[in-house]
Amino acid sequence: MSKQIIVVSGSLRKASFTTALCKAIVDGTSGDAATGASGASDTSFVLRDYVRVLPHYDGDLDTDTPPQVVAEMRAELAASHAVLIGTPEYNYNIPGGLKNFIDWASRPFAKHSLIGRRMGVFGCSPGDRGGKASVDYLRNMIPLFGATLVGPELLLAKINTKIAADGAVDSSVLEPLLALARELGA
Ligand SMILES: Cc1cc2nc3c(=O)[nH]c(=O)nc-3n(C[C@H](O)[C@H](O)[C@H](O)COP(=O)(O)O)c2cc1C
Repeated sequence: MSKQIIVVSGSLRKASFTTALCKAIVDGTSGDAATGASGASDTSFVLRDYVRVLPHYDGDLDTDTPPQVVAEMRAELAASHAVLIGTPEYNYNIPGGLKNFIDWASRPFAKHSLIGRRMGVFGCSPGDRGGKASVDYLRNMIPLFGATLVGPELLLAKINTKIAADGAVDSSVLEPLLALARELGA
């Protein structure tokens, strides 16, 4: 059975380091045996723009017939094998838009599409800590809403020095990212 892994960037800006790394994961796993053993992977990684397209969470909209974009996102998450989140750090936490995605995705309470879903996280930052506070926040939260945390704490510091102008990602960053992707695909 084919497996889809959804990749979500917490940043909206065009020149985002986080989104560049998300794209590198998608590119680096296409045609690749992401799940390892067989050499003929049926796992695909797709980058989704949920953070941009979702409205602000509003309980009054979260009815049996939520906005179409919400319904489509929940259905896609429910059908996915795993979710991989890349996050920047904004004021020692995840960006508000990323939190908004998680809020929509984690409802209805105890019946939502992230329950049991395999989830991995990486953080990046031009600073020395690689987004540690935002990654810690997500890694603590993921089990609390019933998903399964996969992979190590992956913090990619000084990221502005590790992505070339043409988008090429330094192997010291790409290798652990692809290792996390493969672990999620297992
Ligand atoms: C509102 C705001 C708050 C920020 N707070 C932090 C922070 O707490 N820690 C940190 O390492 N970088 C912080 N930064 C810098 C970001 O790490 C940097 O802008 C990064 O490139 C954003 O990720 P992106 O390139 O994926 O958009 C902040 C940036 C903004 C815009």
